[in-house]
Amino acid sequence: MGRKFFVGGNWKCNGTTDEVKKIISTLNAAEVPSQDVVEVVVSPPYVFLPLTQASLRPDFHVAAQNCWVKKGGAYTGEVSAEMLVNLGVPWVIIGHSERRQLLGESNEFVGEKVAYALSQGLKVIACVGETLEQRESGSTMEVVAAQTKAIADRVSDWTNIVIAYEPVWAIGTGKVATPAQAQEVHHELRKWLHANTSPAVAESTRIIYGGSVNGANCKELGGQPDVDGFLVGGASLKPEFIDIIKAAE
Ligand code: G3P
Repeated sequence: MGRKFFVGGNWKCNGTTDEVKKIISTLNAAEVPSQDVVEVVVSPPYVFLPLTQASLRPDFHVAAQNCWVKKGGAYTGEVSAEMLVNLGVPWVIIGHSERRQLLGESNEFVGEKVAYALSQGLKVIACVGETLEQRESGSTMEVVAAQTKAIADRVSDWTNIVIAYEPVWAIGTGKVATPAQAQEVHHELRKWLHANTSPAVAESTRIIYGGSVNGANCKELGGQPDVDGFLVGGASLKPEFIDIIKAAE
């Protein structure tokens, strides 16, 4: 069975109620390929999850942008996986580079969060990616493999994981990876999964690309054999997101 194209929209820490309503009505009015062709998931900030769930078209789904590493309790400011499940939120993004960099989330912590979220029944978009310095020093694959290994060490069933390869230097910079650069890392990552999980996991796990994806560059990026979709930041707040979804066709 082929890997279904996946397009995620990560709204990050953006939006007001009115802006969120506007984005949702644009999405709801759009003609896009069917769910058989593309899986679309949008990720609003926590506070807008209920509004988004209540008004978003039924063929699109929602993701939280993070969740806590274990069962909830005395963890001020955190939101638990159980709470997301309780709200009916199916997906969560874990290990985004902004959290790794700004909030000091380590590979191990991210691996534990992925495992816990899965254990509670959430589906996970797990983010990996190298910094510019790491790329320039030739350690891209080493970094990405270590990030993936921290997940693989704690997870045996990959059915509910999508890996988002997001090179840090391409996030929000307008400096997109070339289709060849993206394909190279996605291919290496799939080889890594083949060797370290199983051939079946490598074949079926979707590896999506994130980092300055827009309406103009999505078609060529999405046409690469190992690029199974996108995780989109800035452009997911704009009507252009529809064009990116259509790159699945
Ligand atoms: O998670 C998506 C992301 O980090 C990419 O952001 O704004 O470069 O599309 P952007």
